[in-house]
Amino acid sequence: MASMFETLRAAPPDAILGLSEAFQADPNPEKINLAVGVYKDAAGRTPVLECVKRAERYLLDHETTKTYLGIDGLADYRDLARQLVFGDAVEADRVAMVQTPGGTGGVRVAADFLASHMPATTVWVSNPTWENHINVFSAAGLATHAYRYLDASKTGLDFPAMLEDLETKSRPGDVVLLHACCHNPTGVDLLPDQWRQVAEVLSARGLLPMVDFAYQGFGDGLDKDAEGLRTLLTVCDELVLASSFSKNFGLYSERVGTAAVVTRDAGSAAAAVSQLKRAVRANYSNPPRHGAAIVATVLTDLELTNLWHQELEQMRERIAQTRQRLVEALRGGGADRDFSFLLAQKGMFSYTGLTPMQCDLLRNRYGIYIVGSGRINVAGVTPDNVERLCEAIGQVLG
Ligand SMILES: Cc1ncc(COP(=O)(O)O)c(C=O)c1O
Repeated sequence: MASMFETLRAAPPDAILGLSEAFQADPNPEKINLAVGVYKDAAGRTPVLECVKRAERYLLDHETTKTYLGIDGLADYRDLARQLVFGDAVEADRVAMVQTPGGTGGVRVAADFLASHMPATTVWVSNPTWENHINVFSAAGLATHAYRYLDASKTGLDFPAMLEDLETKSRPGDVVLLHACCHNPTGVDLLPDQWRQVAEVLSARGLLPMVDFAYQGFGDGLDKDAEGLRTLLTVCDELVLASSFSKNFGLYSERVGTAAVVTRDAGSAAAAVSQLKRAVRANYSNPPRHGAAIVATVLTDLELTNLWHQELEQMRERIAQTRQRLVEALRGGGADRDFSFLLAQKGMFSYTGLTPMQCDLLRNRYGIYIVGSGRINVAGVTPDNVERLCEAIGQVLG
């Protein structure tokens, strides 16, 4: 019998994971990894939050079973996640929500929901966007198109171009994906008034907003970061959401997220829940318990919630201070270019405006690993490496 797999070709490697592998193999003792997508503290570690440790101790003593969760996950978790994301912007009975394995699981369940209910829709994503968006929507069988997002310097927003694309290229019934805050990979977010204008365009053209909320609390604060999403809901009465606790709880490997659909009325929400559950059942049957139990334990205990707020603020403050420090050190490192745009960008990631060739030079000459698009993880910059990094950037720019 002929081999079924003889003609199989290896899939292209993941660009960012590939860089991380090259980083591991690099013997340079002063190497710096700014390619990874996780938060790092000033010592370069990605620690378990203390509120998480305490919740885990509590669970160890009190958890009585590891039996399956329902298809839609833990009810307490869903209520708390809905409250955190939407606040009072929408009535609870208009939100159909399921617990998912991370934000990626949320995007996939939402994509499957859209593909089954609106198979002819096109999902409009920003150019650029988190690269997995296009993978996931394609895997669900949905077409994607990109709307313009960045200006010529690639460090700020070209809002007129974004609006023009949404107004003139989309068709009614299309989906428009927006990053709630801390846009990955650019750090370039919409301003409050721009959210309102986008909401009006979506509503006028009959477009459905889908919001990816992977970094709540990493920009300006838990509620501030949700303002764009909540503004959308003052104009648009239907919306799709994917959210994640990977970053703000540091629960990356526990896979904790949600997929949600906001509908006009409770009856449609009940139908939407049943469809989301259908997508979950076909993908992985039901979600993992541990991470969601941690989040629910923290958010139902006032002391643990306060501790989480403090720990989240520390992460946010460190990123903001690092942005400040970077701008100063780049000035000191001899870069002629003005990098103050780093202060306007939000969250862990930033587009630096460095070209692919400059990123190659940084890697080959200095052991500094940056994604070819010029995206850096600001949280990979520490007091120990900032001077060296900025001198190297000054050299490759000079
Ligand atoms: C924009 C965006 N959406 C979703 C995710 C997925 O997060 P998770 O690790 O929870 O699957 C990420 C993670 O990098 C992201 O940046």
